[in-house]
Amino acid sequence: MMTAPYSAVAGLPGESMWTVRPIGLLLFAIGHFLDEPDDAYGVVSRLVDALPSGSYLAMSHLTGEFQPEETKKTEAMYKAQGMKLRTRSKDEITRFFDGLELVEPGVTLTHRWRPDALDRVSSEEPGERASVLRRRGSQALSHRGRPSASR
Ligand SMILES: C[S@@+](CC[C@H](N)C(=O)[O-])C[C@H]1O[C@@H](n2cnc3c(N)ncnc32)[C@H](O)[C@@H]1O
Repeated sequence: MMTAPYSAVAGLPGESMWTVRPIGLLLFAIGHFLDEPDDAYGVVSRLVDALPSGSYLAMSHLTGEFQPEETKKTEAMYKAQGMKLRTRSKDEITRFFDGLELVEPGVTLTHRWRPDALDRVSSEEPGERASVLRRRGSQALSHRGRPSASR
């Protein structure tokens, strides 16, 4: 369970998970199922803290910035089925990455992440942001928000 990350990494806080060599941690379409009572930011930071230095985190996350009404309907639909969906703004998503080195183009829309066929995707209805981060050293994440320049 994402909400019990220590069972996922089978380690103690501050210990590296699985290996001493850098690895990639992929959290695609997962973060928006964790809300504040689940300690969403703490869950992600504990997983990242267990990564060996030089590892990468790639994360995609639903955002409601561009279609607020549709997003509200979708969240309500999930709730009616007994599931939670917590979309987040760019600043809220960026907060997951405090203390990590942002890889360009940053916390950007998923279809703008180094696209090789941008003309085939619409820029009018984005619903998700994607990011890649590098863990530099053994610093712990502080969960303070950090703005990013790219859209
Ligand atoms: C949209 S799918 C994405 C799956 C996969 N990451 C991918 O990109 O194909 C979301 C996944 O999150 C899982 N999930 C939702 N809440 C979770 C939680 N609290 N802990 C672990 N997994 C969870 C769901 O079971 C589902 O498999």
